[in-house]
Amino acid sequence: MIAVNFKIYENTFGNGVLELAKICKKVMEKTGVKIVPVVSVVDARMIKEKLEMEVWIQNVDEFFEGAKSGSISPVQAKEAGIDGSLINHSECRKNPGTIKKILKAWPKKFVATVCLSSLGQAEGWAKNIKSDFMAYEPKNLIGSKDRSVASEKPEVIKKIVEIFPKVPILVGAGIHSAEDVKVSLKLGAKGILISSYIVKSKNPEEKLMELAKCFKK
Ligand code: G3P
Repeated sequence: MIAVNFKIYENTFGNGVLELAKICKKVMEKTGVKIVPVVSVVDARMIKEKLEMEVWIQNVDEFFEGAKSGSISPVQAKEAGIDGSLINHSECRKNPGTIKKILKAWPKKFVATVCLSSLGQAEGWAKNIKSDFMAYEPKNLIGSKDRSVASEKPEVIKKIVEIFPKVPILVGAGIHSAEDVKVSLKLGAKGILISSYIVKSKNPEEKLMELAKCFKK
């Protein structure tokens, strides 16, 4: 599985988000590898309605309903047809108590992906939480063009896979080659969470194809 985090890069503004999501869908259909656009709340419903594909958002808050202006409610997102969300991305961090509070009242059939930036988190507060996916992304490698989670932290990927034997692990940060994907999968990850290599590329379709092919047996 490939989760493509669109972040709020400029080329996904306006129509750009639809174009990139269409490419995700096209590559998914061509390769049979699941690809999920992880988009801003501003665009999520539109992508869902126009493309009828699985869509996640990049963040939800700990408020589910009520007088909480500006908050992103997981329940509201689910009701709007969105399929899931990241929680605790390094660029949108939450404290462990808040993450547990969010997960406790999490809507059914809404996919939760808790992001971790270190082994310490995996061994500590995250060890017993319930999440559909866990994503390991070392913060200092996010956006890197020459170093990745796969090249720099293979032993941590392996340990995190061992810590959560029942939870599919995604890995991300600096992924920029087929080799990165192959190494990650070999270490036990079930997929990748990727952004700049795809979103900022002049040819995202080609890059996605290159990575999706690594999932084939
Ligand atoms: O959520 C994905 C992300 O943080 C990794 O970013 O640009 O290193 O692929 P990037």
